[in-house]
Amino acid sequence: MNNTKTGIAIIGCGSAAPKNKLTNQHLSQIVDTSDDWITSRTGMKNRCIADKNESLTQLSTTAARNALEMAGMAANEVDLIILATSTPDDLFGSASKVQHLLGATKAAAFDLTAACSGFVFALITAAQYIRTGMYRNVVVIGADVLSRWVDWSDRTTCVLFGDGAGAIVCQRTTESDRLLAGALYNDGSQHGSLNLPYESESKLLVEHITTQGGNYRPIIMKGRDIYRFTVGKVPEAIEKAMFQAGLTSEDIDWLLLHQANQRIMDAVAKRLKLPSEKVLSKIAYYGNTSAASIPLTLDAAVREGKVKPGDTIAASGFGAGLTWSSAIFRWGQF
Ligand code: ACO
Repeated sequence: MNNTKTGIAIIGCGSAAPKNKLTNQHLSQIVDTSDDWITSRTGMKNRCIADKNESLTQLSTTAARNALEMAGMAANEVDLIILATSTPDDLFGSASKVQHLLGATKAAAFDLTAACSGFVFALITAAQYIRTGMYRNVVVIGADVLSRWVDWSDRTTCVLFGDGAGAIVCQRTTESDRLLAGALYNDGSQHGSLNLPYESESKLLVEHITTQGGNYRPIIMKGRDIYRFTVGKVPEAIEKAMFQAGLTSEDIDWLLLHQANQRIMDAVAKRLKLPSEKVLSKIAYYGNTSAASIPLTLDAAVREGKVKPGDTIAASGFGAGLTWSSAIFRWGQF
């Protein structure tokens, strides 16, 4: 992906999740569902749900702080923070507040929205800033609090989503580039498959001039359509990235997909001829945390000692937009 001497290394990760756990049993008290249906269709058992004292900004800051600690980097060494989220605390963006709470006084910071692909979109964006020489140390955060936007009476969506944040620290290196390949994809023609839409209500201001009062409506999703789309597009994107990196499935240590459904992860692994032991999954514990799911899962696997420095990881995010993405990278300081 990069022929120059400047590459990126991913040298720390961290995560944060709300304290309250919502189980399948809890959900069966809210809507007409069962542990058996949710487990067999999705692999989910639990999700963490933010209460009113747990903001997106706080979760993101904690995840970033943990990642910086692992990287051995002080907050004032950070040049840029990219916060991938669809659920900012403030529509003007939450990254600036994270910058302040983190004490990253020299860092520029902005939000990036690409739904469940947000983390991989942000990682590849971070790499561009590092490779051009503009920035040296970049913190990439994926965080979402989708529980705010779920219709808790809709069993087809409310059982799927949880809240959380994950972060990584990327650093410029003059040794080999650890981001081996990756690409970003969109198909806006399928935008209507998954939405959290704004619905305006026309309000007369003066004479013929009206404004758009209104609010966002809860999440609506055509689950089956996205499922089919994903099991076709994600393996293709990873295969292309492996080709670009000069790798085959045998060179991949771990498959790290957006945690939307265990059946999607298993189907993608099968298509790529990767054994199930190589699939990193925390879906049973966290559910679908949107932009947070990839870094949350990475952080858990690193801290459990599963993923080791030098391991090669094939990652892919996918979701609303529709968006999808691939990134193949070597983890850690080695
Ligand atoms: N409990 C019990 N029954 C249910 C539930 C539930 N929670 N939800 C749906 N059902 C019923 C349906 O009503 C339907 O009943 P019917 O056959 O009588 O009509 C039946 O179960 C089957 O429904 P399907 O929608 O076909 O179920 P499916 O096996 O497709 O699973 C799921 C649904 C889990 C949503 C799956 O389609 C999926 O994972 N899709 C992909 C989601 C995804 O990847 N989203 C992108 C990322 S998210 C983001 O970007 C924010």
